[in-house]
Amino acid sequence: MVNVAIFSSGSGSNAEALIRYFQNHPTIRIKLLIFNRKEAGVKTKAELLGIETQYFSKSEFESRPKLVVDFLKNESIDFILLAGFLLLVPKEIVESFPERILNIHPALLPAHGGKGMYGINVHREVRRSGAKSTGMSIHLVDLEFDKGKILFQSACPVWETDSESDIAARVLKLEHLHYSLVAEQYIKSIKEK
Ligand code: GRF
Repeated sequence: MVNVAIFSSGSGSNAEALIRYFQNHPTIRIKLLIFNRKEAGVKTKAELLGIETQYFSKSEFESRPKLVVDFLKNESIDFILLAGFLLLVPKEIVESFPERILNIHPALLPAHGGKGMYGINVHREVRRSGAKSTGMSIHLVDLEFDKGKILFQSACPVWETDSESDIAARVLKLEHLHYSLVAEQYIKSIKEK
C-alpha cells in the first residue's frame, strides 16, 4: 500500500472527495489527515469517514517542522496531498518528501497564485482582471506558494454576469472532478519509475 496524508486547514470538500475516491482502492490509502486549525470542518468530515486525524498548530509547523516530519515518517507516509492548506509547507517537509507533495489551486496558474491568493480572493481577482476563463491547477509543491511544476489544469468559462461565488462554485466542481484522478495517476507514475 502507498500511504497518503492529506493536509487541510478549512472546510474540506476536496479532502472529502479524495477520501471517498480512495476508499477501498487496491494500492493507495488515505491514511491520515493533518489539520492546523482546531475549528476546521475538515476534521469532522475525515473522522466521519473513518480517517485518523492529527492536529499541528501553525507555530509547530513553522518552528518545529521536524515534529511533523517525524510523525509522517513514523506513520509510513509516502505522499502528501494539500487540500485547502493555507500555510507555506516548511522546507524540512518539502525536502523530506521530494516531488511527493501535491497542491490544488483554484485558478489557472501562474495567474492568480502566490501569497494571499486563496479562497474568494482568487475569484475576486479573476473577475477584476476581466479574464474570460479560469479553472484549477494541480502542481508539485516547492518552497514558494503556488510555484511548483504544474501537473494538470482544467478550465471553465467566466461569464460577465458571474459573481465571485458563481466562479468559485464552478471551479470547485472541477477540483472535485479531477484531484483524485490526477493524484492517483501521479502516484502510480512515481511508484512505477
Ligand atoms: C480549494 O479551492 C483549493 O483549490 C484551495 O483551497 C480550497 C479548499 O476548499 N487550495 P475545500 O476546503 O476543499 O472545500
